[in-house]
Amino acid sequence: MTRILTLADSAGWSELAQKLRGVRSLLVITGAGVSAESGISTFRGAGGFWEKFRAEELASPEGFRRDPELVWRWYHERRQALLENQPNPGHFALAELETLIPDFTLVTQNVDGYHRQAGSRNIVEIHGSIWELRCTREGKIWEDHLPLQVLPVYCSCGALARPNVLWFGEVYDGERMRKAQAAAARAELIVVAGTSGMVWIVSGLLQVHRGEVIEVNLEPTDLTTQADLLLQGPSGQVFPRLLDLMNTTEGE
Ligand code: OAD
Repeated sequence: MTRILTLADSAGWSELAQKLRGVRSLLVITGAGVSAESGISTFRGAGGFWEKFRAEELASPEGFRRDPELVWRWYHERRQALLENQPNPGHFALAELETLIPDFTLVTQNVDGYHRQAGSRNIVEIHGSIWELRCTREGKIWEDHLPLQVLPVYCSCGALARPNVLWFGEVYDGERMRKAQAAAARAELIVVAGTSGMVWIVSGLLQVHRGEVIEVNLEPTDLTTQADLLLQGPSGQVFPRLLDLMNTTEGE
């Protein structure tokens, strides 16, 4: 049975913070929900991208071949939204948590770059980055954080460029996958936050894990039965609260 702890529960949080302080190896897996409080749309559920748009048109190699400008327009708009917003207290708390745990890895499905911007260091961006572009001919990758001026985007060699992100039907990058799986295998604890778990990677990482699992989400998900504990609440409040308690219970 999964235990549930909400923000309204007063008992249980200090004990949890105390326990986290003793953890030496932690993997945090994040999804779109951790950026929701930054004003960034999630994929599923009410108001999510996949309610309004078709994933196969906007996030697949076939969709890109059919209409690169449409795909680029969508990525351009997402980049604009990210430039107009910023990481939230959940991102910053996770960056600080990294400094307290000897072996800390963050695997994010998010391409938004907010964890990096908030100061997280040991990150595996398993679905790539919206701030990286890739030449469709030479495979060259470059960073570009400015608003895109011309759509679609071309490489200097004249070939089309694409966002360096993972699309449906594409294969995960081997090196990132190995790093993520190794972290999952050695972690004492995995915290899974702000993800519906609908994309295979999350259950794939939980499968190679032997320790405890804590979920952070607004509501129970398909992952909840695999979790020992659900911290039910917005990640922008849950992580700062945990961090606060970890700092204040020090030495007790
Ligand atoms: P989803 O949109 O599928 O799920 C977002 C999850 O975040 C849901 O379970 C929400 O309940 C939860 N949530 C929303 N706001 C939250 C908050 N403030 N605090 C905590 N939880 C919150 O997003 P992902 O699971 O990230 O892949 O989606 C996985 C992948 O599917 C994405 O990386 C993307 C998408 O298609 C690709 O594009 C390859």
